[in-house]
Amino acid sequence: MSYHAGIVGTGSALPTRILTNADFEKMVDTNDEWIVSRTGIRERRIAEEGEATSDYATAACQNALDAAGVAAEDVDLVICATVTPDMMFPATACLIQDRLGATHAAAFDLSAACSGFMYGVTVGSGLIESGVYKNVLVVAGDLLSRITDYEDRSTCVLFGDGAGAVLLSRVEEGRGVLASDLGSDGSGAKYLLQPAGGSRMPASVESVEQRQHYLKMEGRETFKFAVKAMASSTERVLEQAGLTKQDIDVLVPHQANIRIIEAARTRFGLDEDKVVVTIHKYGNTSASSIPIALDEAVRSGRAKPGDVIVMVGFGGGLTWGALAVRL
Ligand code: UT7
Repeated sequence: MSYHAGIVGTGSALPTRILTNADFEKMVDTNDEWIVSRTGIRERRIAEEGEATSDYATAACQNALDAAGVAAEDVDLVICATVTPDMMFPATACLIQDRLGATHAAAFDLSAACSGFMYGVTVGSGLIESGVYKNVLVVAGDLLSRITDYEDRSTCVLFGDGAGAVLLSRVEEGRGVLASDLGSDGSGAKYLLQPAGGSRMPASVESVEQRQHYLKMEGRETFKFAVKAMASSTERVLEQAGLTKQDIDVLVPHQANIRIIEAARTRFGLDEDKVVVTIHKYGNTSASSIPIALDEAVRSGRAKPGDVIVMVGFGGGLTWGALAVRL
């Protein structure tokens, strides 16, 4: 017996503290005009000292459960996509499971950087379609501020903190996840990474002195990859779902750079009101950017039941992924 899996609730959580471009002008050699014209970012949210990814991820999950009207005890699995877990282990998903009171749920983390939400929904919906589980929480949470080098102007202005979640459940045929396209190219691992803190370069006095615990990115290489990956992954997912670009009601792209989003929008001939943009106010929140944008689109009524939503992301790995969903 096979089932259909769909998004039955969305949620998100963001810090209240705001870091503006003017704040960065006091920290590094940059200016508002450069940041806005090259990235589209005006401000981003930054978590308070002492907070961790699970704080925001738990709140986002609770919002998604409330929206769906499902109790935490009825959740079968919690998948947390993150590259900034509370600790190396145990999994942040276990901390979320405990705080939600999801006492019957399995829990694990998933590492696919900014594509993590696409990977998480693909895994979670597959487990529902195959009949293994009924209710799966997929949450993407990242506090990139924790691994951002605030002395490196080429990266520090880009990132923000937050979390977004969906509850996946059984839905009737014709609704839910219609198609998924995931991919990876590890030969590009060097373009976007956090070198230290793992088994290759464990934490040491030298690794800290050499600033190796911070995120490093080759911006131009990542940009070129992103533009291609967004287009090709969207094309594949549409084809797989038997849809065309005219069928897209709402496009929810990863929020890394307004120029990358614009390239995708023009490539698919979409009007501005069909593309969800949050980058000006939240910056790049890694895996969380797509579910946060989706939650805003649902809550504002921009994404309505029955709409075809295409989500597409890319990131470290290198990884990419797209989902076509009928709400
Ligand atoms: O979610 C993860 C995936 N990440 C991404 O998708 C990021 C993709 N990459 C990008 O979004 C862009 O490459 C960046 C926004 C990171 C950079 O924009 P760019 O147009 O590719 O700039 P660039 O790296 O080619 O740098 C252009 C100039 C350089 O100066 P010179 O060498 O031309 O004199 C940089 O040093 O801009 C300079 N620059 C800055 N200037 C002012 C770099 N960062 C800054 C800054 N303020 N913050």
